Amino acid sequence: MAKQVATNITQHAPIISRQDKEKLLGQKGILLWFTGLSAAGKSTIAHTLESELLKRGYLAAVLDGDNIRHGLNKDLGFSHDDREENIRRIGEVAKLFVGNGVITMTAFISPYRADRDRVRANIQNGDFVEIYVKCPMDELERRDPKGLYKKARAGEIKEYTGISAPYEEPANPEITLDTSELSLPECVDTVLNYLNQQGNLKK
Ligand code: ADX
Repeated sequence: MAKQVATNITQHAPIISRQDKEKLLGQKGILLWFTGLSAAGKSTIAHTLESELLKRGYLAAVLDGDNIRHGLNKDLGFSHDDREENIRRIGEVAKLFVGNGVITMTAFISPYRADRDRVRANIQNGDFVEIYVKCPMDELERRDPKGLYKKARAGEIKEYTGISAPYEEPANPEITLDTSELSLPECVDTVLNYLNQQGNLKK
């Protein structure tokens, strides 16, 4: 991890607490961390869930791999170190969102267990929920919406997760969604039920 270089900095104590904001929103902030191979369905589930939550009057936000890599993380590639830094930054941004009471979703491959565990450790009170979006490789290669698996197989993309770079499955995810078996509404309902059971949705 990069060392902190600035000196003479102090953190400012907030006047408005997280609880004040959560009361206003009628919800409890949480981080729903979607992980899984490209084309498994992370972004689709997260964005559909976001609109379902907004329909019900809850504030939710999605941080999405392909979008963040066009802005905040456009200086990063797909080496082990860059993926680690990608996930570290997302973890910090997500923490800010959760601290403001937002139901926050991240949709990144996040292939390394240690990187995901570091984010979990940085988010207090069990507010980190790991959601493994699972799908067999042959189905992913059938889907291949961006044609990237084909290019990776042909050797045109190096270090492609699942083909020429590793994906470390979560050891104990709070939720597993197998998108080769479950429909999109079933996946979304599973997470909505979880949020209801955990008391995150208070309206
Ligand atoms: S992560 O590994 O650092 O978590 P992230 O989720 O941000 O990855 O980005 C993954 C997306 O980048 C994929 O869905 C795919 O569209 C694209 N991509 C481009 N090159 C690669 C690669 N070598 N490995 C994985 N995904 C890649």
